Amino acid sequence: MISSHEQAGASSRGARRAVIRGLGAALPAKVVTNDDLSRVHDTSDEWIQRRTGIRERRHAADGEQTSDLAILAARRALESAGAERAELVVLATTTPDKVCPATAPKVAAVLGLAGVPAFDVSAVCSGFLYALATAAWAIESGSIQSALVIGAETFTRLLDPVDRTTAVIFGDGAGAVHLESGSEAEPGAVLMTRLYADGTDEELIHVPQPDDGAQGSYFQMNGREVFTKAVEAMSASVDSVLGEIGWRRDEVDALIAHQANLRILTAVAHIAGLEAADAEIHLDRVGNTSAASIPLAMAAAAAAGRRRPGDRVVLTAFGGGTTWGAAALTWPELAVIDPH
Ligand code: COA
Repeated sequence: MISSHEQAGASSRGARRAVIRGLGAALPAKVVTNDDLSRVHDTSDEWIQRRTGIRERRHAADGEQTSDLAILAARRALESAGAERAELVVLATTTPDKVCPATAPKVAAVLGLAGVPAFDVSAVCSGFLYALATAAWAIESGSIQSALVIGAETFTRLLDPVDRTTAVIFGDGAGAVHLESGSEAEPGAVLMTRLYADGTDEELIHVPQPDDGAQGSYFQMNGREVFTKAVEAMSASVDSVLGEIGWRRDEVDALIAHQANLRILTAVAHIAGLEAADAEIHLDRVGNTSAASIPLAMAAAAAAGRRRPGDRVVLTAFGGGTTWGAAALTWPELAVIDPH
C-alpha cells in the first residue's frame, strides 16, 4: 500500500493540498452504437445493455492518436482553470502513441510546456488515480505548484476484431484536470489517495507479447474473474479511504468510480455502503474508456450541473496489473466544456 497523506498532516486544517482548478474532456466524433456492433459481432443491443449498461461508445478515427485526445482534454482543462502553464504533465494511458518514447512529452510540447517534466503512467483502468496521486504527492511535497493530469486512451485499437466480449465494453476518449497548490479547506482539494497493486493476477487483463506463444497481440480479459475482483477491490479501497479520512457513509455526496460495467458500479456502491450517494453513471454514453473514464465521468457530472463546490466525492478504480485504489476529494469550483 502506498500511503501519501498522513505524513503531510491530513488532520491539520489548511495543510497543503493539490486542488483541482480545471477539468476538460475530449471524445472522438465517431459514435458506435450497440446496433452497429451487432452488425459485426454475434451480439445484441439487449444483451449489451442488460449485461453492461452500455448503449454506445466512441472510436478514434483513422490517424487519431491518444496524444490528439490528450491535448484537447488538457487544453480544455487549462482553459477551465484560466491557466496557461503547469509545472508537471502526467499522462495515464495504456495506449501511448508509440511504445517508445512516452506520449506525455509530446503532449506537453504541443501545449507549449516543453521543458517541464512529463511522463506516462501505465496502470490501465486505474491509470488516472495513479497519475492524480503522483501529481498530488509532488504538489504536497512543495516541489511544484501546479500539474496537468490526463487520462487518455485509444483503447479500441488493442481489441481483437473478432472478440465480442471486449468489443462491446471499451471506447476511446480523454479527460484531464489542472491542479494547483492550495489548502485542504478549498473546494477541489485532493484530500487522500490510496493505491494498490498485485502482479500475481497480471494475466487477468493483458496484451500478451507475440513471442509468448500467444496467437496474436490483442487485449485479453477474463471477464468473470475481473468482475469479481473489481467489485472486491474497489469496495475495499473505498472502505479504507472512508475509514482513514473519517467520513461517514451518509456524508459522501458522490461516488465516481471507474466506468467498467453498470453491474460492477451498482455492486461497489452497495458493498461500500454508498447507496445513498450519487453514483455517477457515464458508461452508457462512452463505455469503458480505461484511464480516461474517471475524468470523463467527472466532466459529465460537471456539465450536467450534478455537483456543487465542496461536495464530498470518492473516486475508485480497478484495472490491469492488477492495480486499484481510491481517492477522497471535495468537488471543485470550475467551468467545464461539455464533452459530448
Ligand atoms: N454478446 C452476447 N453474448 C455474449 C457476449 C456478447 N457481447 N459476450 C459474452 N457473451 C456470452 C458468453 O459467450 C456466454 O455464453 P455461454 O453461456 O453460452 O457460454 C454468456 O454470454 C455469459 O458469458 P459471461 O462471460 O459469463 O458473461 P458476463 O455476464 O460475465 O458478462 C462481461 C461478460 C465481459 C460483460 C462481464 O464479465 C464484465 O463486464 N466483466 C468485467 C469487465 C470489465 O469491466 N473489465 C474492465 C475492468 S477494468
